[in-house]
Amino acid sequence: MKILVTGGTGYIGSHTCLALISAGFEPVIIDNLCNSKLSVLDRIEEVSGMRPLFYQGDIRDAELLDSIFSEQNIQGVIHFAALKAVGESTQKPYEYFENNISGTLTLLGAMRRAGCYRFIFSSSATVYGDPHAVPIKEDFPRSTMSPYGRTKLMIEQMLEDIEVAEPNWSITLLRYFNPIGAHESGRMGEDPQGIPNNLMPYITQVAIGRRDCLNIFGNDYPTPDGTCVRDYIHVMDLAEGHVKALEVCGHKSGLHIYNLGTGNGVSVLQMVHAFAKASGLEINYKIVDRRPGDVSECWADPSKAQKELGWKATRTLADMTADSWRWQKNNPNGYEA
Ligand code: NAD
Ligand code: UFG
Repeated sequence: MKILVTGGTGYIGSHTCLALISAGFEPVIIDNLCNSKLSVLDRIEEVSGMRPLFYQGDIRDAELLDSIFSEQNIQGVIHFAALKAVGESTQKPYEYFENNISGTLTLLGAMRRAGCYRFIFSSSATVYGDPHAVPIKEDFPRSTMSPYGRTKLMIEQMLEDIEVAEPNWSITLLRYFNPIGAHESGRMGEDPQGIPNNLMPYITQVAIGRRDCLNIFGNDYPTPDGTCVRDYIHVMDLAEGHVKALEVCGHKSGLHIYNLGTGNGVSVLQMVHAFAKASGLEINYKIVDRRPGDVSECWADPSKAQKELGWKATRTLADMTADSWRWQKNNPNGYEA
């Protein structure tokens, strides 16, 4: 069964291709390489034994999408392709709306023309805004605090309206918490361009000596140690969640919504200590001002996915930190080798 994976050379998409291949699916990737590298395909092949078909191009290119659907017998789409940097989205809101929202609409149009109605969307815990309580359940109110977050919320709302009007769709919204870690082979992982925005790649770059010191954004939050608490999930657990969603929801029309998280809150300081333990290295850090827009606590109630999809994150914080470090240590310059 061929599955079109948009953004399939990116961080989560590439790991999901591995999980799809392991489960017997055949991923077909479209990616414009705006935030990933072609050599990811070599690594997917090396780790899985299968080289996915690859179309270098943009999801806003309707003609290209039509030709993919006519050339390949695509049975479903997992839609990762998006711009995703929260800070950048406040500087370039037009680019975020144009890429993420127009791109999704163009993709949905091509799917309709091809008669393909099985769709899995990469959403984010960012749609919960500053949650009134934790752990977060799927029916919590939604709000957003950045143009990036608004692209996710608006796409969720568009998909809800489409599903009501066109009940032949099977639409699954997967709301990811904080993916970290890397494939256990140490051959695939996260390869951010420039200065990392996210905690784990920043920590690994301090560990490898590419950066001097981690800035911890605030230690005066109402949390046990004063630093923010997140639900970090191993990227391979997240990848396997997509396969479960495809297997379970792909056969049911309607709208399906799941949190993909572990259900465990981990603070920034706890993460620094866990990483130090996994790597045997001290991580140089200093406390600086809060980062605007950060919420103090954000972690999932993942029980709906467990109950309905039969999926549960199994990898521990020790696995996540060890795998992130193995990837960084073996590939100091990421995929540039
Ligand atoms: P990523 O940047 O590594 O992967 C996204 C891929 O999409 C990249 O390879 C990029 O080149 C491609 N892309 C972007 N715009 C495109 C376009 N118009 N046409 C074709 N390809 C395009 O990001 P990721 O971390 O793998 O995230 C994947 C998805 O998950 C995104 O939708 C993101 O918003 C969502 N998400 C990520 C996180 C996270 O923390 N990483 C959390 C929640 C949700
Ligand atoms: N942090 C630091 N120093 C850094 C980077 C991060 O202290 O250099 C802290 C942040 O302040 C936050 C925590 O580490 O408390 C996690 O920050 P990340 O940037 O790694 O992750 P966020 O929870 O802020 O954001 C992630 C995704 C977003 C998504 C959001 C909500 O990157 O795309 O989760 O789901 F919108």
